Amino acid sequence: MTAAVRTEPITVPVALDARSYGIVIGRGLLASLGARVATLRPGARVVVVTDENVARHHLAAAEAALTHADVTASRIIVPAGEASKSYQVFERVCEGIIAARIERSDLVIALGGGVVGDLAGFAAAVVRRGLDYVQVPTTLLADVDSSVGGKTAIDSAHGKNLVGAFHQPILVLADTALLDTLPAREFRAGYAELVKYGLLGDAAFFAWLESNWREIFSGGDSSKSSAREHAVAVACRAKVAIVERDERETGERALLNLGHTFGHALEAACGFSDRLLHGEAVAAGMALAFEFSARRQGLIAPAEAKRAVRHLAEVGLPTRLQDIPGPPPSVDQLMELIGQDKKVKRGTLTFILVRAIGGAFIETDVDPREVRTFLSEKLAER
Ligand SMILES: NC(=O)c1ccc[n+]([C@@H]2O[C@H](COP(=O)([O-])OP(=O)(O)OC[C@H]3O[C@@H](n4cnc5c(N)ncnc54)[C@H](O)[C@@H]3O)[C@@H](O)[C@H]2O)c1
Ligand SMILES: [Zn+2]
Repeated sequence: MTAAVRTEPITVPVALDARSYGIVIGRGLLASLGARVATLRPGARVVVVTDENVARHHLAAAEAALTHADVTASRIIVPAGEASKSYQVFERVCEGIIAARIERSDLVIALGGGVVGDLAGFAAAVVRRGLDYVQVPTTLLADVDSSVGGKTAIDSAHGKNLVGAFHQPILVLADTALLDTLPAREFRAGYAELVKYGLLGDAAFFAWLESNWREIFSGGDSSKSSAREHAVAVACRAKVAIVERDERETGERALLNLGHTFGHALEAACGFSDRLLHGEAVAAGMALAFEFSARRQGLIAPAEAKRAVRHLAEVGLPTRLQDIPGPPPSVDQLMELIGQDKKVKRGTLTFILVRAIGGAFIETDVDPREVRTFLSEKLAER
């Protein structure tokens, strides 16, 4: 194996007037965290919020980078997993930030995946009526999705992400080497959100992923080591472009939900457990969205839908209901869960459908009976 090739970092600018910032993507960037913080906020103290897994692998390096630039840092470590997006852990994080004497001129650093980003970002949004924060994503999902766009939240007993705020970070530092310690299954689940950008709006990117996905998975150990950084940058640019036009999700931002209506129903049917990770549910959901679109006369050619599904299956993501371990959900259960989704309006359902790979659109007039027939057939294929 050759040594990891370090390439120049790629910066994706996010233009939101006074809240503009950059997403910096590159291998080995964590070492520059302290210098970047010191430049952005001279004299600021910081508190690093992270989870137990990430702390084990990367906290020491993050703290060393901060200390090296004379930045005073303290830490808050929460248990790993979605359960940390709770009121109890949120309270601990808020109290921890206050106890660390983080003031308006200081910074919160979210070092972790989407859970830490959402939790620490929301705490930063509300403690002292708003503190600046930096995202240092450590999962592929966080690199391409949760760290981009400024949505932060914790979970309610009524559903996921129901208590939160829009709060943009002042910097996202995406060190792609941090993904080398990510369990393969988590990496693959994040890849579903990455390929989503190709499937929803960028056919050329999808085709590039079909040829280059292995280099993205292997990261720094191949001669094409910039594939991962390039892919993250393309995905971030795609999400940023949508967020810049529709920050508060009044329209176009909904395209990012491709695969998510079916996906959420499957996730909920599995009890949001390890049986099906979010990204895995999104992969299966995108496959269903393509197949459902293909059933609609002339919407998308069946061969094109098959091509989308084939790539998801090729990287090892679930694409069929029978790929999901455990007892299958019933059609009634899935319809009930789809109906509970916030996208229901006056008896019709809203889905993100596709006219082509790269050609997603918002369809607000889907007849629930059509969805029921489709899902019954899919379940019968088992
Ligand atoms: N705010 C948004 O716009 C947005 C968008 C999508 C998802 N989300 C949220 O993101 C969350 C999911 O994020 P996630 O998939 O990153 O999950 P996660 O943060 O739970 O991370 C997944 C697992 O990987 C571990 N881990 C993280 N980085 C690691 C590393 N570098 N090495 C080894 N282990 C590591 C974590 O401890 C955890 O066990 C959900 O709560 C979801 O609601 C938010
Ligand atoms: Zn998602």
